[in-house]
Amino acid sequence: MIRVWTENVSAGVLDRNGQRGSTFVYEVRALADQAVSVTMPVRLASWDTPLGVAPIFEMNLPEGALRERLRLAFAKATGRFDDLDLLTIVGRSQLGRVRFTGAEDQLDEGVPFQSIDEILFSRRGGDFYRYLIEKFATSSGISGVQPKFLVRDEGMFSAAQGTNRALSPSFRGATHIVKFWDPAEFPQLAANEYFCLKAADRCGLKVPPHRLAEDGSALVMDRFDLRPDGTYCGFEDFCVLNARRTDEKYRGSYETNVMKRFQQFANSPMVLQESLQLFTLIALNCAIRNGDAHLKNFGIVYDDVQGQAHLAPVYDLVTTTAYIPQDRMALTLNGANQWPTAKDLIRFGEGRSLGTRRTFIEMLERIADALSDTTTDIKLYSKEHAEFAAVADRMIAQWDEGRRAITV
Ligand SMILES: Nc1ncnc2c1ncn2[C@@H]1O[C@H](COP(=O)(O)OP(=O)(O)OP(=O)(O)O)[C@@H](O)[C@H]1O
Ligand SMILES: [Mg+2]
Repeated sequence: MIRVWTENVSAGVLDRNGQRGSTFVYEVRALADQAVSVTMPVRLASWDTPLGVAPIFEMNLPEGALRERLRLAFAKATGRFDDLDLLTIVGRSQLGRVRFTGAEDQLDEGVPFQSIDEILFSRRGGDFYRYLIEKFATSSGISGVQPKFLVRDEGMFSAAQGTNRALSPSFRGATHIVKFWDPAEFPQLAANEYFCLKAADRCGLKVPPHRLAEDGSALVMDRFDLRPDGTYCGFEDFCVLNARRTDEKYRGSYETNVMKRFQQFANSPMVLQESLQLFTLIALNCAIRNGDAHLKNFGIVYDDVQGQAHLAPVYDLVTTTAYIPQDRMALTLNGANQWPTAKDLIRFGEGRSLGTRRTFIEMLERIADALSDTTTDIKLYSKEHAEFAAVADRMIAQWDEGRRAITV
């Protein structure tokens, strides 16, 4: 049995149910604002899941190399390894405001310290990665296939001021996400993502402060769910909002499962403005040829589970066709996975009554300009980092094609 916490207060208990399912029961005294998700209000009846755990509990479970490592390390001791076992290991340090501990345990995030500067400027290669996975695997409640960790530095980077904002010395939660890459599969992925995020920034989208390691080995991002006072806000991805399991993240359409769902849960006077940002993000994903823009790569954030929710800042933007030339969209638009044209995108925006044809043409033009400007940056960086040149050339070719496609 596992205790589930929201914002440091016990919200209820989660337990196995039958062969493969689970059941979650709120504390009798739980208040409405302790709900674990916007999709699971506080109630007396249990919330039962026939297969695995509810999407909000599955949301941050590691997927790729990290999951495999934890399975190998812990399966022997318990003889089996399911989602509840994984939650027992990584549950105390998770993205968003939900945490997990043993039924009788107190909550203590206890993420080890790691200087971000050391990650950005050390050139220790694979050894450093192995050291970090050893130290941070069990406090990295973060999903995704690429190798990554949650770490704690003493402050957050402020891009606007170019300074570090210090947190209280007693703070023990994670502050940053560190993303690595597998050279055999996705060489230079960190630099690829870095420039995609730069283009997003130029489109006026909200991008969390992030930095690329000097040798390109890692991308370090500030957690956007960490508030200045050291508490965490609510975060839910679109698998959760669509009541989908993680293995269904590639199933759905941008119209219904992303845009319409966002408008259903936003509950905010900013909904139209943020829907236009979401439109820009979807169109940008198409233009940069990101074939991995699935349901877990969009999210909402909120301070109060019953209050307003906002579109989460942008994350996980990658030109996947630099590695998989035939890659297509992760979700459908107008019923298809093919990269859309300007006409398709305008029809999408008009179909959801987000604005006039003129609005969308201007947004697509802004994206095209952002790609042109960022292409110049890629060329400059690639001159100084020969190891990036091959991927850079492929990215530039893909962006040229994407830009032509979204030009009216
Ligand atoms: N800056 C951030 N602050 C808070 N949470 C974040 C941030 N960036 C990413 N996340 C969360 O971490 C998860 C994993 O990150 P990300 O999507 O970048 O990893 P990935 O391994 O590249 O994913 P994928 O499996 O989609 O390729 C995201 O789905 C999101 O829930
Ligand atoms: Mg992702």
